[in-house]
Amino acid sequence: MKTLAIIGAQWGDEGKGKITDLLSEKCDVVVRYQGGNNAGHTIIVDGRKIVLHLIPSGILHKHSVSVIGHGVVFEPEAFQKELVTVADAGIKVTSENLKISENVTVITSYNKLLDAARESQGAVKIGTTGKGIGPAYEDKIARRAIKMKDLFDLPSLKIKLARNLEEKEILFRHRYDIAFPSVDEEAQRLFELGKNVRPFVCDTFSYLDQAVIAGKKILFEGAQGILLDIDYGTYPFVTSSSTALGGVYTGAGIPESSVQEVLGITKAYTTRVGEGPFPTELFDAVGEQIQTIGKEFGATTGRKRRCGWIDLPLLKYSVKASNLTSIALTKLDILCAVDELKVCVAYKYEGKTIDVAYPGIDLYKAEPVYKTLKPFKDDFTNKTAKDLSPELNAYILEIETFLGIPVGILAFGPERKEILFRK
Ligand code: GTP
Repeated sequence: MKTLAIIGAQWGDEGKGKITDLLSEKCDVVVRYQGGNNAGHTIIVDGRKIVLHLIPSGILHKHSVSVIGHGVVFEPEAFQKELVTVADAGIKVTSENLKISENVTVITSYNKLLDAARESQGAVKIGTTGKGIGPAYEDKIARRAIKMKDLFDLPSLKIKLARNLEEKEILFRHRYDIAFPSVDEEAQRLFELGKNVRPFVCDTFSYLDQAVIAGKKILFEGAQGILLDIDYGTYPFVTSSSTALGGVYTGAGIPESSVQEVLGITKAYTTRVGEGPFPTELFDAVGEQIQTIGKEFGATTGRKRRCGWIDLPLLKYSVKASNLTSIALTKLDILCAVDELKVCVAYKYEGKTIDVAYPGIDLYKAEPVYKTLKPFKDDFTNKTAKDLSPELNAYILEIETFLGIPVGILAFGPERKEILFRK
């Protein structure tokens, strides 16, 4: 395996952080290709919790190079804070081990103010993190975004910001009663912040091109999940970027043929933060138990996550939408504590039974069909994949048979070592 993409197969928070961290140890280059500091990979190293929002997890390994590709939206102040977190963990960040695309889109103060105002006052709540991610992508698509390289030339930055802000002032100042900073203020702020980022900025396309030619092992680190993809996800309750496999090609800038394996990270149950349809959501004591034991609160926002049973029709869609080649099943330890086990194997929908959640289906009207399995109570300490209980093996087999791809990795705790490789 030379290249691997790690992608959330549900609505994010699947536990990608730990697995990315573990697998990036074996890789030369680790690349973030979409999203911004709305992601929140949590990695526990020797009992110490490190939450990375923007910098790829590869930074934790001395030998690997971390790359932030042009598909990412970049908040320079958040980056500054994260550099301190990483330095506090004893890791030296240099232009050798961190490379940031000169074409990443910069999140401005305007973007953040607008995001927060819409979320608190707008007619439709998406449940965004309020960090300006969506408005920054809007600017990118509208061809008026501030790119990283713009931060290095103050006069031209002022001209671009003035163009960027003009429409926002007219459309939004009064609509949301936002006091936007002046062009001069914002330009100066970004220009100063840009000085600190500049050492890491380069042409990441040519860096990755050379890495592929040299046969380096490359890992693409996804944030959020396929069901939150701007095109493949449960629109409009999605994030603003391409979280599915397609995002690797556009956001990192590598040819399609370069990704050999696509690992879909899946919780042993399902969670969703914010609004939107969720067919297997539990509104009972079991749902509450999973939420409490699973500590299902957002790493970035602290919001409670909604919890429910694993949804195989949705996962089957994710397999198709991102060409997943295998699954990593996480948080099995949480289900061990629950005395009931159900798997959604189909939906009753408009008088039919369907087993793939194609986008044409209104998930609000999909009625889950459950298969009840015997709960598993495995103690994973010092066990190998051969020691799993028959109940857990039956659960895994149900998932593999349904999805048609292997479950290669099992995770049963937040620590690096709490993981089993099956094949
Ligand atoms: P996004 O990119 O924001 O979607 O998040 P993520 O998929 O990177 O999630 P993250 O890695 O932050 O994991 C979410 C939480 O689950 C963290 O607190 C992890 O420490 C924890 N976690 C990960 N795997 C397991 C597991 O197998 N069992 C338990 N109990 N906790 C886990």
